[in-house]
Amino acid sequence: MPTLHIDDQEPCDVDDGKRLVNAITDCGVDVGHRCGGQANCTTCRVRFREGEPDVMTRAEHEKLDQVRQDGETWRLSCQIKADCSMRVETVYRANEQDWDDAGPRPAPQVEPEAEWFDREALAGDSY
Ligand code: FES
Repeated sequence: MPTLHIDDQEPCDVDDGKRLVNAITDCGVDVGHRCGGQANCTTCRVRFREGEPDVMTRAEHEKLDQVRQDGETWRLSCQIKADCSMRVETVYRANEQDWDDAGPRPAPQVEPEAEWFDREALAGDSY
């Protein structure tokens, strides 16, 4: 069972393979997910301190390519499975933003339908 270390919260055990955005939410951290986990809004972004996955979905790859600036390393938690212990920092929490809520709950499975790539296979890109 993976353990998540999120910001300055107490460690939290989550089901193996759970969608990271939902795992963070269920650990009591109101990370953004304004598009409902569709790799569109980027409010679910996290910075990894440990446990960054070696794989990335096509949807995440395309979104990062559009919006991530040089030197930025954040990832989309809606496009990641918590399949090992991880240490992450959230970027947008609903209670710190001018939002009514964090957004609609993402589905249990990664959406859009995940097409996985090894990040090293994307080495010709900016990450
Ligand atoms: S990009 Fe919108 S929830 Fe992840």
